[in-house]
Amino acid sequence: MAQVDSTQDNMPQTSSDKNRIVIFDTTLRDGEQCPGATMSFEDKLEVASLLDEMGVDIIEAGFPIASDGDFEAVSAIASRVKRATVAGLARAIEKDIARAGQAVRHAHNGRIHTFVSTSPIHLAHQMKKSETEVLEIITKTVAQARNLVADVEWSAMDATRTPIDYLCRCVDLAIKAGATTINLPDTVGYALPQEYQHMFEQVRLRVPNSDKAVFSVHCHNDLGLAVANSLAGLQGGARQIECTINGIGERAGNAALEEVVMAMRVRADALHYDSQIDSHMLMRASKLVSAVTSFPVQYNKAIVGKNAFSHESGIHQDGMLKNATTYEIMTPESVGVSKTSLVMGKHSGSHAFKEKLKDLGYELGDNALKDAFTRFKALADRKKHVYDEDIEALVDDEIVNAHDRIKIDSLMVVAGTSGPQSATLTLDIDGKTTTHRSEGNGPIDAIFNAIHALVPHKASLELYQVHAVTAGTDAQAEVSVRLAHDGHSVTGRGADPDTLVASARGYISALNKLQARAAKGAHLAINDRLKP
Ligand code: KIV
Ligand code: ZN
Repeated sequence: MAQVDSTQDNMPQTSSDKNRIVIFDTTLRDGEQCPGATMSFEDKLEVASLLDEMGVDIIEAGFPIASDGDFEAVSAIASRVKRATVAGLARAIEKDIARAGQAVRHAHNGRIHTFVSTSPIHLAHQMKKSETEVLEIITKTVAQARNLVADVEWSAMDATRTPIDYLCRCVDLAIKAGATTINLPDTVGYALPQEYQHMFEQVRLRVPNSDKAVFSVHCHNDLGLAVANSLAGLQGGARQIECTINGIGERAGNAALEEVVMAMRVRADALHYDSQIDSHMLMRASKLVSAVTSFPVQYNKAIVGKNAFSHESGIHQDGMLKNATTYEIMTPESVGVSKTSLVMGKHSGSHAFKEKLKDLGYELGDNALKDAFTRFKALADRKKHVYDEDIEALVDDEIVNAHDRIKIDSLMVVAGTSGPQSATLTLDIDGKTTTHRSEGNGPIDAIFNAIHALVPHKASLELYQVHAVTAGTDAQAEVSVRLAHDGHSVTGRGADPDTLVASARGYISALNKLQARAAKGAHLAINDRLKP
């Protein structure tokens, strides 16, 4: 059995256009829909640009009617993305479709993705409409979308619990009305692989004009079958996969992009399909999505989990030393996992640092590079070994927090067994410094109280999460802090070898994001109270 290695082309020799799978990423829509995964405007732009660079064909950027924030994010992504098609989701409602059309109008290729439920359960309990009424809705709404854009996707929500005869009638009408992609989702994650494959075979066989559209899979993971079902859908004739980075999404999530991509690539002998995804970027995408949503990646997660390429048992380690193919079916490098390597020390110069960043896939502007280099030198002074992961954490922190109005000037903490623990914090807010000392129930509480005193706000803390970037007691801590205000959540990140400083950075980063939202027009009390 061959091992997929880092030198492999993105497209295998055997691939033909017929077997080229369109990757439709819905991290920013279905992924963001799951509770707690809300991303800020800037986060969404960063994720979209990485998806575009990675080779995703279609980026579903959001649900424009859902909020002004969603509309703005979809419009901005549509205007900025250079290569991928940008899709906006719309219910089968006139105003949704008009809004989605408006949001994608500046895309070089914009898609309206409209959906309606087709299953008896949804028709009876959610839609309260008859089958005939839904058929009329399909014709009307798909035609409306098609008048706005040439690229229209229609989805039969809860397709897998829809009687096949009725499903075929719906698909037939959607194609006649102008849909160019037909998506048959397993909305509730109920289907088994052979059933899902059969559904596609039947619909493609029975609908006379089925060759006029590309068929698409969209699978939820309630039974842990999302990836298996997606691949089975391809066997049934689908040629588009809807998926998300790290498999985030409603409830148990969607099919994970990295898993479907690598399954097709590693098992190209049996699955004669491939995508144009640059698999070397999978790990970076996973880390970015995990960081901006603060959804940790399960340690044993396929492809991008921390343990996906570690070998613990003696027998396995022995085999690996003799030949990596004994226990690895793909190389870590092929998915962008660099072997933790000692990179540089305090004597490394800015040129070497810049080159290292290039290797890791970062291109920073002059100012950001200067700031990142200063932080790297400070880190190298304090930390014995500086690894790739350290540099990634530091640069990610720098990128996410580059335009912050609130910055930490200094922090002094008194901790230990005999309280009270206290924090003396000086913040730079729009160029003015101000200091406050607070006590708390432990050092983190004291720091957060000091931040609260310096930047009064009504946001509530939803999540505080710490993880070590590398091994060792001098490892950098990466802290995620999620704050909620007025029904919206934002996640801030901070990295530092000192966990307390990283915590303060994480909290301040979240406040900066709330402030940025406020500046964009959301009515947050924090906006008026930023100035000391
Ligand atoms: O799961 C689902 O059915 C969806 C549709 C909106 C496509 O996400
Ligand atoms: Zn879904």
